Amino acid sequence: MRVLVCGGAGYIGSHTCVALAERGHEVVVVDNFCNSSPVVAERLQRITGRAPDVLRIDIRDAQTLGRVFSGDRFDAVIHFAALKAVGESCEKPLDYFDNNIAGTIALLKAMQAAGVRRLVFSSSATVYGDPASVPIDEDAALSATNPYGRTKLVMEQLIGDVCAADPAWQAISLRYFNPVGAHPSGLIGESPNGIPNNLMPYICQVAVGKRERLQVFGGDWPTVDGTGVRDYIHVMDLAQAHVHALEALDGVQGHLPLNLGVGRGVSVLELVRAFEAASGRTVPYAIVDRRAGDVAAVYADPARAERILGWRAIRDVDDMCRDAWRWQSMNPDGYADG
Ligand code: NAD
Ligand code: WQD
Repeated sequence: MRVLVCGGAGYIGSHTCVALAERGHEVVVVDNFCNSSPVVAERLQRITGRAPDVLRIDIRDAQTLGRVFSGDRFDAVIHFAALKAVGESCEKPLDYFDNNIAGTIALLKAMQAAGVRRLVFSSSATVYGDPASVPIDEDAALSATNPYGRTKLVMEQLIGDVCAADPAWQAISLRYFNPVGAHPSGLIGESPNGIPNNLMPYICQVAVGKRERLQVFGGDWPTVDGTGVRDYIHVMDLAQAHVHALEALDGVQGHLPLNLGVGRGVSVLELVRAFEAASGRTVPYAIVDRRAGDVAAVYADPARAERILGWRAIRDVDDMCRDAWRWQSMNPDGYADG
């Protein structure tokens, strides 16, 4: 298939470009590089032997996006392009609504105008808000606990409404749990700007000596060891799931949300210990107060995705830590290393 990948220079998008290329799909990337680097194209070339076409475009620029669709013929779109930092979204809600929601509207309109009606969308476990129970399946109640989460919820609803209005549309929203790890080459990975918000990149920066110690947010959660429990999933497994989703679109009616997780909860301290074993480094930490908005345990019931996509996550926490550490140690400053 010929696939337009919006936000394809980012963390999950770049890994998905590798999986798509390995499966023989043709990729055109659209990205404004607001949270990624053009260096990614050269890294993708080194991994796959071929650099994808990369266009520097903001998806809210309807005119330019329209020209991309009218000058090419795409079989489907994968839509990663969004701002994703929960804390920042509380400080700058309008930026988040504008980028994520207006961006998605512009993209859906351009697709509609070009007659491209197949979409794989990056959603998030954040759409389950503070879940009533775990594991979480796709029928669980949806809610948002912050502006970022609200944008994801609205984006899913927009896609659902467009599919309901025109049965020619086929869309899958992939609700990622906690993506971590990197390509085993160490050439692509997660390259956060400033202080990392998420646990794995923070652990990596402590291990490489960029930060003194990890702050563990809460030691009194009702979990196995008192620390927060999440469903970490290797980004390579996630990338593979996008290829399966793309190829499953033909059999989908309307809008289908699917959880992408391993289905197993791992605590903060379990992840720290696994990382120490994989890296041979110690990760100093201090247990501090809970972070506002956090919840005790979030993990997926991935059965529906496994059944419909014929996919399952095959990499374990040790693989995630080993590959995250290889990326971090080969690129201590991420893509800023060039
Ligand atoms: P990322 O920031 O690395 O990738 C997003 C990419 O989109 C970046 O390259 C950015 O430059 C680009 N982009 C953003 N706005 C754009 C715009 N208006 N026009 C063009 N390009 C734009 O993030 P990621 O971790 O790869 O996440 C990808 C998607 O998955 C996002 O939609 C995110 O909300 C979702 N998601 C991520 C996680 C996670 O923990 N990483 C979890 C659940 C869902
Ligand atoms: C994981 C665990 C923290 C950092 C977020 C978004 C979610 C999704 C994925 C996009 C929790 C603890 C963390 C630290 C810590 N993103 N922690 N010290 O909160 O599950 O999900 O990213 O859609 O929407 O909310 O991930 O990596 O921030 O936290 O102790 O420095 O690690 O309390 O238990 P989270 P996370």
